[in-house]
Amino acid sequence: MAETTKKTDDASLAELKARIDHNRLPKHVAVIMDGNGRWAQSQGQPRVYGHRNGVKAVDQTTEAATELGIEYLTLYAFSTENWGRPKSEVDALMELLVETIKLEVPKLQKNNIRLQAIGNLLRLPKHSRETLQQAIKETAGNDRMTLVLALNYSAKWEIIEAVRAIANNAREGHIDPAQIDESTFTDALSTKGMPDPELLIRTSGEARISNFLLWQLAYAELHFTPTFWPDFRKAHFYQAIIDFQDRERRFGKTSEQLQKDDK
Ligand code: FPP
Repeated sequence: MAETTKKTDDASLAELKARIDHNRLPKHVAVIMDGNGRWAQSQGQPRVYGHRNGVKAVDQTTEAATELGIEYLTLYAFSTENWGRPKSEVDALMELLVETIKLEVPKLQKNNIRLQAIGNLLRLPKHSRETLQQAIKETAGNDRMTLVLALNYSAKWEIIEAVRAIANNAREGHIDPAQIDESTFTDALSTKGMPDPELLIRTSGEARISNFLLWQLAYAELHFTPTFWPDFRKAHFYQAIIDFQDRERRFGKTSEQLQKDDK
């Protein structure tokens, strides 16, 4: 019986995957992993149980994105605002981060995935920071996909840091304020060198951006799913890509103009 269910699941997953047009994949997908706490509480478990079960979803999402040929996957793992949670939850999250990174590095190596991080990493506990930096170093040469962890990240913090850096450069005479343009700003962000995410996925039914990649998401398609993060699987990821491919991305133009441009 279990074998039959598995075969049906595999067949429907393959069917979903077959609906994806590999020539129109987003280069960069960003994910707000939300709903761990509610998932745990709905089962009468402590919130941390939800975070632990979220690791399987991290694994599945990374695998699905790599197999499809997505170039960048960014996961919002810890926001600057998350420091305001009870100390026991913050400590558990930092510990889980270390454990997960240690567990993931061999898989990242095997699958040729490079790890990067964005956010104010200096405020992370020393042990978490060092584990993260070591994993970034070890995987630096991989080039199939880049997995970016947003840690102690806040888009407003990032924007202020960029403004500060540009202002300093102007004061020191390295740039003329009149020459500041979009690329000056893009290059001053922690995502320098990465394409902007074309698709943002948020789980748990919330429909907010929550201080995540505010500049970079300017033209992203937003996909909200009611699924809580610990239940998020490859099929949900494929659904999000199919939803993305069903959208018409006009970038301010009209439908008619886009159809003409295609010819
Ligand atoms: C949001 O759910 C989730 C987080 C703040 C943490 C995400 C962390 C993981 C999935 C574990 C490890 C991941 C990596 C990449 C190392 P929530 O707690 O805000 O849920 P709620 O809205 O239901 O309270």
